[in-house]
Amino acid sequence: TRVLVLHGPNLNLLGSREPGLYGHTTLADIDSRLAEIGREAGATVECFQSNAEHELVARIQQAEAVDAIVINPAAFTHTSVALRDALLAVGVPFIEVHLSNVHAREPFRRHSYLSDVAAGVIVGLGPLGYELALQAALQQAKRD
Ligand code: DQA
Repeated sequence: TRVLVLHGPNLNLLGSREPGLYGHTTLADIDSRLAEIGREAGATVECFQSNAEHELVARIQQAEAVDAIVINPAAFTHTSVALRDALLAVGVPFIEVHLSNVHAREPFRRHSYLSDVAAGVIVGLGPLGYELALQAALQQAKRD
């Protein structure tokens, strides 16, 4: 089983970025925890962060052999038809994750270009959301 984890713009700053909203956990902490969960399940978990939309699109386009994608598109959630189209093009099931509860913030964060085509969406649970998304992805991959 192979799972690709994608993190969008500014998530490289986790730990110091608005800690009241996003907590003190760093992206490296999250990625190493996800790798550990993958190892325990005998799966390969590959994590990638970029601030550039085209790099995320490129990674998705290379993901044909991946069983599932876990993605926190960050600000691109609310803007990116390109990420939506890339995910639809490869046809790999994906789970959308947000650390914060996007429904309890500015109104523009309530709309996602991805949610209606996602296998599932997890919001507001902090880093635990990534772990839950990975568990779901692993279970789903085992089933098919
Ligand atoms: C986020 C929510 C987005 O609205 C925001 O632009 C982010 C992070 C989250 O994980 O809560 O950068 O995706």
